[in-house]
Amino acid sequence: MLEPGDVLERVEIGPVAHGGHFIARHEGQVLFVRHAITGESVDVRITEVGRRFARADAVAIRSASEHRVEPPCAVAGRCGGCDFQHVEPAFSRELKRRVVAELLGHLAGVEFTGEVEEVQPSPLGWRRRMRYHRDPRGRAGLRAHRSAEVVALPTSGCLIADPGIARPAAGRPAAGDLLAVAAESGALLLDPPDRRTVTEQVGAHSFEVAAAGFWQPHRHAPEVLTTRVRDGLAPQPGETALDLFCGVGLFAASLADAGAHVWGIEGDRRAVELARRNVPSARFSSGDVLARMDRVPDRADVVVLDPPRTGAGAPVIAAVAARRPRAIAYVACDPAALGRDLATASGLGYRTVAVNAYDLFPLTHHVECVAILEAR
Ligand SMILES: C[S@@+](CC[C@H](N)C(=O)[O-])C[C@H]1O[C@@H](n2cnc3c(N)ncnc32)[C@H](O)[C@@H]1O
Repeated sequence: MLEPGDVLERVEIGPVAHGGHFIARHEGQVLFVRHAITGESVDVRITEVGRRFARADAVAIRSASEHRVEPPCAVAGRCGGCDFQHVEPAFSRELKRRVVAELLGHLAGVEFTGEVEEVQPSPLGWRRRMRYHRDPRGRAGLRAHRSAEVVALPTSGCLIADPGIARPAAGRPAAGDLLAVAAESGALLLDPPDRRTVTEQVGAHSFEVAAAGFWQPHRHAPEVLTTRVRDGLAPQPGETALDLFCGVGLFAASLADAGAHVWGIEGDRRAVELARRNVPSARFSSGDVLARMDRVPDRADVVVLDPPRTGAGAPVIAAVAARRPRAIAYVACDPAALGRDLATASGLGYRTVAVNAYDLFPLTHHVECVAILEAR
C-alpha cells in the first residue's frame, strides 16, 4: 500500500494527461506524475494517495527525455504556478496538442488536426494579471501545488509575469493577497484589492476593466481570440448576436463593430456596469447565464460562449441551441469541459467545423481553444 512520502525508483513515464500530469503505473496502480516527461525513467515521491490513483512528483531523473530543459525559474517545481518549466517550450505545445486531441476525440468524437499555436510574448513575460500571496515573513510569493504554502518569489521575480509586475513591492507587512496588474494604462498594485479600474486597448477599442476583475491574462489573448471568433462567425450587419459570459464586453464590441445587434450576459455585476460603458450599443444583463436567458431574444444568428473552466454545461448549450443560431463560437480554457459541451451541442444539431488551439499560458499545462460550431 502506497503512502505519501514513499519514493519509487525507476518509474517509466507514459502519456501526458489533462492537468499537467503524466501517467505511470506501479504494481497495477495508476500514478499521475508531475515534472516528468513521456518516455523518461524517473524516481518519484508519492504526494497523495486516492482510491483509484496516486499523485507523485518526479524527484530524480534516471533517463531524461530529449525535450527536458533546465527550468528558467529558481523555484520551478516548488511553486505551483508553472508545471511545464522543465519541458522545451515547442514540445510543451506538442504535449498540449496531444491532450486537446485526446479529449475532443474521446469526449465529442471531434478530430483535432491542428497545432497549438505560439503567441508572443512567449514563454516569459506574458502574464498581465498576478495574484500574489504572502509567506509567513510577509514576502510576496505564489502558492505551492494543491497547498496553502506560499513559495516566496526568487530574486528574478516571477518570470512569466509582465516585467512591470514581476517583483511587487508589498505595501503592507500583513497577510492577504496582492493583485498586480499590467494594463495598457499602466501597472498597478492593489494591496488590498480595491475598486479601481484600468484601461485596456484592443484594436480600436478601449475597455474599462476592474483591476481586480476578469481580463484575459496573456497580453495578446484579447486580439487573438476576438480575431478568431470574428473570422469563425462572420457576423453580418443586422444579425442578432449573443455574448454569453461576456465579462466587460470584449467579444460584444467586435460583434457590434460588424453591425450586429448584441445582447450580453455576465454574472459579475461590476463587469456588466463596465460593459455597458465599453459597448454602449449592446444590451447587457447581469446574473447567471442560464437564469438570464429570458432577457435575450428567442432567436439569434450567432453566439459567443466564453465560460469559466467548468464549461457552459448542458442546460446553457440547450438554451443556446433552442435559439437556432447559424453559428456558435466557443472559447474554452478547459478542453475537457469543451469536449463535454461539444458532445451536448452535437446531440442538438450543432457540428464542430473548426477548432483552433493557442498557447496563451506558456510554461504551464493550460491551453486555450476556440471551436466554431454550425447548425447541421
Ligand atoms: C473566461 S471569463 C470570460 C470573460 C469575457 N468573455 C472576456 O473574454 O473578457 C468567464 C466569465 O464568466 C463569468 N461567469 C462565470 N460563471 C457565470 C455564470 N454562471 N453566469 C454568468 N457569468 C458567469 C465570470 O464572471 C467571467 O467574467
